[in-house]
Amino acid sequence: MPTRLFHISDVHFGVEDPAALAAVAEAIALEKPDALVCTGDLTQRAKHSEYAAARDWFSALGVPVVLEPGNHDMPYYNPWERFTDPFRRYNALRAAVADGFESADVVLVPLRTTVRAQTRFPWSDGVVKPAALSPAVAAIRALKDAGDPRTIIVIAHHPLLGDEGKPQNPTIGGDAAFAALAAAGADAVISGHVHIPFDQHRSVGGHAMRMIGTGTLSTRLRQDSPACWRVITCEPGGVIATELRLAGAGLGGVQAA
Ligand SMILES: [Fe+2]
Repeated sequence: MPTRLFHISDVHFGVEDPAALAAVAEAIALEKPDALVCTGDLTQRAKHSEYAAARDWFSALGVPVVLEPGNHDMPYYNPWERFTDPFRRYNALRAAVADGFESADVVLVPLRTTVRAQTRFPWSDGVVKPAALSPAVAAIRALKDAGDPRTIIVIAHHPLLGDEGKPQNPTIGGDAAFAALAAAGADAVISGHVHIPFDQHRSVGGHAMRMIGTGTLSTRLRQDSPACWRVITCEPGGVIATELRLAGAGLGGVQAA
């Protein structure tokens, strides 16, 4: 049986969509995916109450959970904590509900794209620093050097590339990171942040990789894109199939990727 992942993102506990979350939880109970991957913006303002709600929801699902933090997951009202220990609250959640996942089909490689501060505004946009990229590339190379046939999926909060056809990439270092990860042998990168789903084959500098994003499960909807999540089915050798699921009230159903 291929490995089935449910990919959700941008739940934004605090302004979450309860109907959308119920739809995902119901699908998990029914279909028992091998793991649930959430690519960040777990909370709206990184409040303790929002993290508590996230902990309650994730811990009740009964499947392995894999998390990456988003820009909303660092303290918003406590600048001291944001600068001294920005991921303390996120790390506590991860320790409580997430234990990592790999299977005979797929390896998930995390890539941190959120930073506590930047030299530009908005701070919400992504940055790929060498200290984040290097271990991800090294992990992929080690798998390839060992002849590991499994599909490799990088998980990040921010899309590494901008919209197709637009010259500007809001993620600093995203183009170089995309090329380095693809050159190392990653098959896909999955992300959230923009609250709009996509599934594209992209290429930078001759290095190609699939770029898959899912929408939000919050009420922060963008450009008429409804609440949604994605089923990602993996087999070795870079074989990936995806299916977008709509989760908004009255929008239950399946949409081809
Ligand atoms: Fe975000």
